[in-house]
Amino acid sequence: MGAGKINRLVVALSGASGAVYGKRLVEVLHAAGVEVHLLISRMAEKTLVYECDTPPDSLRRLAAKAYALNELEAAISSGSFRTDGMVVIPCSMKTLAAVAHGYSENLIARAADVTLKERRPLVMVVRETPLNAIHLENMLSLHRAGAIIMPAMPSFYIRPRTIDDLVNHLVGKVLDMFGFEHQLFESWKGIPEGGSKA
Ligand SMILES: Cc1cc2nc3c(=O)[nH]c(=O)nc-3n(C[C@H](O)[C@H](O)[C@H](O)COP(=O)(O)O)c2cc1C
Repeated sequence: MGAGKINRLVVALSGASGAVYGKRLVEVLHAAGVEVHLLISRMAEKTLVYECDTPPDSLRRLAAKAYALNELEAAISSGSFRTDGMVVIPCSMKTLAAVAHGYSENLIARAADVTLKERRPLVMVVRETPLNAIHLENMLSLHRAGAIIMPAMPSFYIRPRTIDDLVNHLVGKVLDMFGFEHQLFESWKGIPEGGSKA
């Protein structure tokens, strides 16, 4: 696996369901030698433990730097600190709302705001269901501001056999947004003659 175009990435886990997506992304980036700047919200700490049995500090150890959310003076708070972009994975509706409204009260919202103003890629792996009008409007605002809205929606055309297959597919799609080479899933080659993959 090559590092593609990413050297330094900000990765934020917020408290939506799907902590495993953020965990896998950090693991893949760490294995590829990418400099990860990691943010884990208080609710993401809880979902990491509840959904993945993963202590947040074990994930922080894979990062080049991990920040507290109130560390608003951190390097990633400034556009002068160059990064290749940011991924919020998973992204709660609360964090989505904060970024959509420029309400940079914590370091996740501030770093995302900076990523947008510097015209760097910002991928928001939003997760909620069903969606209300506020969620949808916030997603549209952010799309218009330049963010990539990538809902955590499983794909069944990959014929997943395990949850890992589904997680790897979503994480691979995130990495595709940065032109990062990976082998997390096979690219689509069309439906074979006969209509079945088996
Ligand atoms: C187990 C669990 C699952 C949750 N799943 C979601 C979710 O999928 N989407 C969402 O927007 N909020 C979800 N929440 C609620 C958020 O954690 C909550 O709104 C929180 O304030 C988000 O804060 P943060 O964005 O700062 O992490 C969940 C909470 C828990 C405890």
